[in-house]
Amino acid sequence: MPRALLLGASSQIGLDLLRRPPVGWSFEGAGRTDPRPWGAGLSRFHLVDLSDERAVRTLLGSTDSEVWINLARQGEEPFPWPRADARAPPAGPNPTDPAWRVNAELPGWLAQEAKRRGRYLVHLSSDEVFDGSGGPYAEEDPPDLRSTTLSRVGYARGLGESQVYESEGPRAILRVCRPYGARHPARPDWLERLWRDLSEGQAPPLSPPELLTPTYVPDVTLVLGALLERRPSRLYHVASPELIPSAGIARALQVESGREPLGPAAPLEPGIEPMRWGLRIREVHKLDVRPLSFREGLRSLFGGAAGPVRSTPR
Ligand SMILES: NC(=O)c1ccc[n+]([C@@H]2O[C@H](COP(=O)([O-])OP(=O)(O)OC[C@H]3O[C@@H](n4cnc5c(N)ncnc54)[C@H](OP(=O)(O)O)[C@@H]3O)[C@@H](O)[C@H]2O)c1
Repeated sequence: MPRALLLGASSQIGLDLLRRPPVGWSFEGAGRTDPRPWGAGLSRFHLVDLSDERAVRTLLGSTDSEVWINLARQGEEPFPWPRADARAPPAGPNPTDPAWRVNAELPGWLAQEAKRRGRYLVHLSSDEVFDGSGGPYAEEDPPDLRSTTLSRVGYARGLGESQVYESEGPRAILRVCRPYGARHPARPDWLERLWRDLSEGQAPPLSPPELLTPTYVPDVTLVLGALLERRPSRLYHVASPELIPSAGIARALQVESGREPLGPAAPLEPGIEPMRWGLRIREVHKLDVRPLSFREGLRSLFGGAAGPVRSTPR
């Protein structure tokens, strides 16, 4: 049976993939948290600090997995995203920082080893690699590495993505936008946190308004399944086909959950231009995947008993 190695197997996307793995594949995981207690079907788990270059290269030299999927990432996932003038500016390379190594360097180590050893590499990226001034972004758009308003994490992730993109080995890059819907047992995503706050009557955070195309995580699992079979060398966007304003998210939750009222409407800072995030999708249709709109994703989540959250939020 063919096998794939998941780096960052305990991630939201990793856990969703491992809960319903593509037929005919087995998976081994690597990272610092073993997800098997959460029901992840792994043949093996390697306890590895993915910011440690020597440990990573040793692992890659010893695995016979023919596909490597990099889901590792470090950094905040704020909602709403801070305005450009409120974000830490991009800093230069900082190899002593483990987060820098995971976001900016690990993808390069993987790309080099995958090319050398003839393995297919899939790297998860996101619209964080842009500065939020020009979305929704196209698959051809390169990361905004020269922007002075790119976030620190975005700069590191953008460099990481670029190294995979420029490598000549067979590789795919998937960009996502604010992934939600994995129902991770230990790590609530931004939508779960918002749902919990609204359910407790708290006001949504004061926005800088944003335009977004949130990614329904089970759609990423479908795309990963298709990539395992076909192994194209391309960059894909996996995101809602509709651009939505952040101010409408609380209202959409209210409508799709059927619960009234969830909390006050999102306040907007007057006179502020929205941050323009989001991803345009095109290539993913060639894999026969049609990502859900945000409303459809919510409907799918609320179709289950628990709604978008685990039944006992932490
Ligand atoms: N804003 C956005 O659009 C956005 C937001 C989030 C994610 N994403 C994208 O989606 C992808 C997957 O995201 P996700 O939400 O599933 O990620 P996630 O839940 O935050 O998981 C990140 C993974 O990386 C692992 N990791 C981080 N540093 C590590 C280290 N030094 N050694 C070993 N493992 C380490 C984590 O392990 P632990 O479980 O031990 O922490 C976890 O398994 C990311 O690659 C990212 O590009 C985009």
